[in-house]
Amino acid sequence: MSNESTTQEQEQNGDAERTSEQLVELAKRRGYFFQSSGAYGGVGGFYTFGPQGASLKSNVEDAWRDRFALEEGNMEIDAPTIMPEPVFEASGHLEGFDDMLVECSECGESHRADHIVEDNTDFEDAESLPIPEVEEVIAEHELVCPSCGAGLAGEAVEAFNLMFATNIGPGDSQPGYLRPETAQGIFVEFPRLKEYARNTLPFGVTQIGRAYRNEISPRRSIIRTREFTQAELEYFIDPEEDEPDLSAVEDVGVRLYPVTEQNAEDGNEIETTIGDAVAKGVITDPWVAYFLGIAQEWYDSIGVDMDRFRFRQHLSGERAHYASDCWDAESEIDRNWIEIAGFAHRGDYDLSKHAEHSGDRFTIFKQYDEPKTVERATVDPDMSYLGPEFGGDAQAVVEELEALAGRDRSAFDDEPVEIELEGESHEIPVEKTGFAVEEQTEAGEHVVPNVIEPSFGVDRVVYTVLHHAYREDEVAGEERTYLELEPEVAPTFAGVFPLQNDDELEAQADDIASELREAGLSATYDDSGNIGRRYRRQDEVGTPFCVTVDYETIENEETTVTVRERDSTDQKRLPVDGLAETLVALREGNVAFSELEGE
Ligand code: GLY
Repeated sequence: MSNESTTQEQEQNGDAERTSEQLVELAKRRGYFFQSSGAYGGVGGFYTFGPQGASLKSNVEDAWRDRFALEEGNMEIDAPTIMPEPVFEASGHLEGFDDMLVECSECGESHRADHIVEDNTDFEDAESLPIPEVEEVIAEHELVCPSCGAGLAGEAVEAFNLMFATNIGPGDSQPGYLRPETAQGIFVEFPRLKEYARNTLPFGVTQIGRAYRNEISPRRSIIRTREFTQAELEYFIDPEEDEPDLSAVEDVGVRLYPVTEQNAEDGNEIETTIGDAVAKGVITDPWVAYFLGIAQEWYDSIGVDMDRFRFRQHLSGERAHYASDCWDAESEIDRNWIEIAGFAHRGDYDLSKHAEHSGDRFTIFKQYDEPKTVERATVDPDMSYLGPEFGGDAQAVVEELEALAGRDRSAFDDEPVEIELEGESHEIPVEKTGFAVEEQTEAGEHVVPNVIEPSFGVDRVVYTVLHHAYREDEVAGEERTYLELEPEVAPTFAGVFPLQNDDELEAQADDIASELREAGLSATYDDSGNIGRRYRRQDEVGTPFCVTVDYETIENEETTVTVRERDSTDQKRLPVDGLAETLVALREGNVAFSELEGE
């Protein structure tokens, strides 16, 4: 998106920002979400989901679980959120999970240096620039501290590791970290999980849980927080053999913004289908394409506005250290695109690293259809020679000879054989290596699976669903705010009200609320304030229907109630007999309110 904006765009931006402000205010007032520990002044980057928000979030998680675990036939696990240091040494997070930090020496505030550059220059992907270049850009553009306005030229930009560190047990002998992604909890358990999958690829493991990143500058309410919920699927495949069933998603329409278009002078997003995008090579990996198709339909089903949604491919400098390709799902919020999921091809990076660091086996044994006779180069070094010659390094020499025989048997044609040990070259007479080529019959081979990872930020999905559902209109001359939430995710499906404070009306309304709950619907009883206010309250939290019990209900022979639809505000009298079934049909989308018979 261009950094320049026209006057009209600026006006629209004003409106859009107003939507966010109104939404954050509504979220606090009505119990969606608010900053945590308010009694102690609040703490940046931590949010509490109130009663409505916790319910919406849990409905989003359930919908995700239904689609990505149950429907796809994947397993679900629940791993600890604290893991020991060696896990993150292996995963690369200890070494490279950094953001660029610049501190203002005038006011002491910390900022993301790349964000300052992106917000104030034409650079769109400053994260991918080397640190010295970011320092240069800050100096050249005379960029200033967003908090106090002091110049930042000359301030050092540092790599700041985002993991929260802790100690496991007393003392500091076992350092641990709060996991920065739920994925590692899946990868480290691969040797056991593969058994549950009967050692057969492909298979998928999902996890919904908390992750933690010590963000330099958390911002925009629940969009960038320090503790958040991820819903991740790690899908393990045999890269040589496994293919997804693309026929299931080939007709799904998507808006794509590939690297080629991002880099082109007049590049644009492409409206296409998953099938066409794969056929034309816009999406190169069919597994990534498959999950983009599923995700597109899932986001649509939970109420993300498809006109404000796209998939954008990562530029090469933007990709995480483990990814060979990655597409983000992005939603438009306040005229900005925000990442709400990533679809990464992680190759064999994670499993190979954990194998290397733990010594455990992170492979799947792939049985051949028929046993194969293969030639294997082996060594059987003469230790009575290597021991005196290499002392404590003799075992390392053996390992190097074994590795060399595996990768380049022609090296043993030379006399002597040359190996490298810690950068130094050594010569070994070939007869002392015990080199031989033998025929072996093998039933199969150990393969390191590749991983395709759809990774969803649940809090950002919740924010998007709320932002895209936010509406203002006028009803009977009065301004109204309502959330047009999909019934599947709305925290409350029906509000049930007695028209007035009257024992008989209240008892009847209470009974109806209980019946609706027994039918599996989330129903809330409300008898406070006038009926108009009660409707407005439910509209504001996005309750799709309200049921009002009035005197007609208790006086007429056929017991009926008024049912009001949130979006149209239309009302119908419907019989109490069968009301729960009718509302369940409305929730499931089996019938529309306008199709119901009723006065
Ligand atoms: N597992 C991907 C991520 O956390 O970004």
